[in-house]
Amino acid sequence: MINTECQDERHQKGHMHLPNSPLWAHHLTVSYDKRKIIQELSVQIPHNSFTVIIGPNACGKSTLLRALSGLLKPELGHIVLDGKALAASKSKEIARKLGLLPQSAIAPEGITAADLVARGRYPHQSLFRQWSETDEQIVANAMEATGTRELSHRLVEELSGGQRQRVWVAMALAQQTPLLLLDEPTTYLDIAHQIELMELFAELNKQGNTLVAVLHDLNHAARYATHLIAMKDGHIVAQGRPGDIVTEQLVEEVFDLPCKIIEDPVTKTPLIVPIGKRNSQ
Ligand SMILES: Nc1ncnc2c1ncn2[C@@H]1O[C@H](COP(=O)(O)OP(=O)(O)OP(=O)(O)O)[C@@H](O)[C@H]1O
Ligand SMILES: [Mg+2]
Repeated sequence: MINTECQDERHQKGHMHLPNSPLWAHHLTVSYDKRKIIQELSVQIPHNSFTVIIGPNACGKSTLLRALSGLLKPELGHIVLDGKALAASKSKEIARKLGLLPQSAIAPEGITAADLVARGRYPHQSLFRQWSETDEQIVANAMEATGTRELSHRLVEELSGGQRQRVWVAMALAQQTPLLLLDEPTTYLDIAHQIELMELFAELNKQGNTLVAVLHDLNHAARYATHLIAMKDGHIVAQGRPGDIVTEQLVEEVFDLPCKIIEDPVTKTPLIVPIGKRNSQ
């Protein structure tokens, strides 16, 4: 831990950060037109973590992810990716370090699943480095890992919601970036595919990748996250290990939802059981 004195000093210099944090933001303010969605938010993604962001609809999760990935320019504050100011980095350079799966990704019309996944390799191409066998293999592996190989020749627009989502995840994986930002990657997926993907992410994390995912399923978040960030109204309300921060009070505060917390019988992590109005006396 950084001691307070040192933290204050770094704060003044605007360099307060966790050692080795591959992505951090300092005093970030992000607005759409004049409306401030995020105000003076500072966050550090721990190195080699599986960070999960939770919070109610419209609290600013996607906005934060877009800002952290360089898609959205913050009004104030700065973001540092891999030790370099994001604002001073070229987009191809960013794309080689950080992959983003947006919440509502739209595929170009008439594109097949395999071609979409292959687009994940674009940041690695150049005049001197054309499409290679390695790229082919990486695309095949990403499709294998997400169970989308048999969809290779299908048009993306003709896939089911869950199939399409898995193709997008494959594209994000094909980028092979050390950092992966995933906005609701398990939306549309049935329970088995959700668990399969969460385990794939946990495995990628174990192999040394840093992942940041926005999730609505609190139980998946508590089970798989190594670092959990709870947001509300554009602010971070709590962050830390799920076992340390997930309490009935926190869920009530963040989601305005009375609940009971029990131990997940499989993983011993917190399991959130909503009470609901009909069941409360
Ligand atoms: N492109 C945009 N232009 C204007 N306002 C926007 C835009 N995108 C999002 N907003 C607004 O910013 C606020 C935060 O939106 P954001 O998408 O970050 O929420 P979120 O936490 O990701 O929610 P959800 O869980 O529903 O995905 C909302 O009030 C939303 O209406
Ligand atoms: Mg969102």
